[in-house]
Amino acid sequence: MKVFQHVQDIGDLSVALAEAQEVKRDRYQWQHLGKNKTALLIFFNNSLRTRLSTQKAAMNLGMNVIVLDVNQGAWKLETERGVVMDGDKSEHLLEAIPVMASYCDIIGVRSFARFESREDDYEEKILQQFIQYSGRPVFFMESATVHPLQAFADLITIEENKTNARPKVVMTWAPHPKALPQAVPNSFAEWMLAADVDFVITHPEGYELDPQFVQGARVEYDQMKAFEGADFIYAKNWSCPGVTRPEAYGKVLEDYHTMMDWCVSTRQMAVTNDAAFMHCLPVRRNMIVTDDVIESPRSLVIPEAANREISAQVVLKRMLQAL
Ligand code: CP
Repeated sequence: MKVFQHVQDIGDLSVALAEAQEVKRDRYQWQHLGKNKTALLIFFNNSLRTRLSTQKAAMNLGMNVIVLDVNQGAWKLETERGVVMDGDKSEHLLEAIPVMASYCDIIGVRSFARFESREDDYEEKILQQFIQYSGRPVFFMESATVHPLQAFADLITIEENKTNARPKVVMTWAPHPKALPQAVPNSFAEWMLAADVDFVITHPEGYELDPQFVQGARVEYDQMKAFEGADFIYAKNWSCPGVTRPEAYGKVLEDYHTMMDWCVSTRQMAVTNDAAFMHCLPVRRNMIVTDDVIESPRSLVIPEAANREISAQVVLKRMLQAL
């Protein structure tokens, strides 16, 4: 595997899920693969889970790990060509990428949507430069549009906890005071549509996700109706994707105080099939989900986060095997 961005990059999902369970049975059995190999994890944005779980996965495989927080201690990087660099950015990504690549064998990058231009975000301008100029396998640790390590961990969690062959999985928008990217819902939709689940998305009008990720998904604007009979509830906020309202790309469409009915509570969970609750974390309690739902025995947020180590290890293992 040279690039890990989309669900297609992992190949057959049943094979990937079986491999995830093999990793869980003994995560240290491939230490020889990572001997004298280095993973460089580059963060343009904050992280808790991705940072720790990916480091742990690389160490499980016997790799050395270097973590770089670009905005804390490194030179500020210019990302656009043609810019007269007379501002606060001292180095260009086009020099920095090959230099960083010379110190490692595999690169992971986190670089969120900037919300300055939908076109730039959806073209993945930063990550594409790493793919083009590093000469190394590159995996996405949440980019402007996707978070595949999260979606793979989510699928592992659903597979481990489902009680019927084809569970109903509902992804619901929930309120948030800030404008958040669409990377998590995009990837979750992409992976659920490739998996054997009955997938439904519910959100207020105006939050329609990009068709490249949700083509074929059922959208139900009535949240209570969407929740009926659900086996898994996956909550997430996202800002306006700019599909039906291009002028509002990256914006919160309404004052969140008026949207609090969308916060996942026992009211909505009561119409489900005793659904499990999922969220990628970090989560704002009593905005996205109430205390009692996230603390209930049906909450999977902790095992879901633990599975981030497993999804990262499957991806790194495959990249090492292809070096
Ligand atoms: N879910 C997730 O990616 O968490 P972090 O932002 O803490 O890495």
